[in-house]
Amino acid sequence: MLLKIPQVLDAAGLARARELLAAASWVDGRTTAGSQAAQVKNNQQLPPGGEAHRELQALVLQALDKHPVFFSATLPKRVLPPLFNRYAGSANTYGNHVDQAVRYLPGGLQRVRTDISCTLFFSDPDSYDGGDLVIEHSYGEQRVKLAAGDIVVYPGTSVHRVEPVTRGERLASFFWIESMVRADEQRRLLYEMDMSLMKLRGKLGETPELVQLTGTYHNLLRMWADT
Ligand code: NI
Repeated sequence: MLLKIPQVLDAAGLARARELLAAASWVDGRTTAGSQAAQVKNNQQLPPGGEAHRELQALVLQALDKHPVFFSATLPKRVLPPLFNRYAGSANTYGNHVDQAVRYLPGGLQRVRTDISCTLFFSDPDSYDGGDLVIEHSYGEQRVKLAAGDIVVYPGTSVHRVEPVTRGERLASFFWIESMVRADEQRRLLYEMDMSLMKLRGKLGETPELVQLTGTYHNLLRMWADT
């Protein structure tokens, strides 16, 4: 499931993130790529470990934490700490690749399966040319270039690329999630059911049928979740 979620980061969070990113010193993005991906990757990243990096990570994670749609769509079990990248100038593109299936949490002891890839946009789409995130899936290609503060989540299994940025700069956060529900099609069913339940509850209030269906949602989650 590819899902765009608007305004995950509010105006204050966005302003602070841009401030930190503007003052940051960037390094070659190939340091975190696997060997296939490194051959097509040409962008910049923020090196982890600094104070600004920690503040940015906290900012992103807090925004996600209080977002019910993001939670419902991803059902997170483990979230890898967000990373930050910049496409501009001569380091402006990332060719077709699939993200590594397994990554490590900082410290290297805990493995995380990358069920879901996430990109949170910081730059206004009008401020740069190119830089579309192009995701291939069974129905063809999907081009994604979102408003600042919006996030896209998509299956980690997808071949994807970031097209060259030919004007301005594209700043984003990217990270991966291991979901409690491993299979994309099961996550989609749960997400669609959860959203419909929310809308029905808004229209009808609590009814016996809604109580029953909410129970069905939780029982499906119980059947499929690995916590
Ligand atoms: Ni990628």
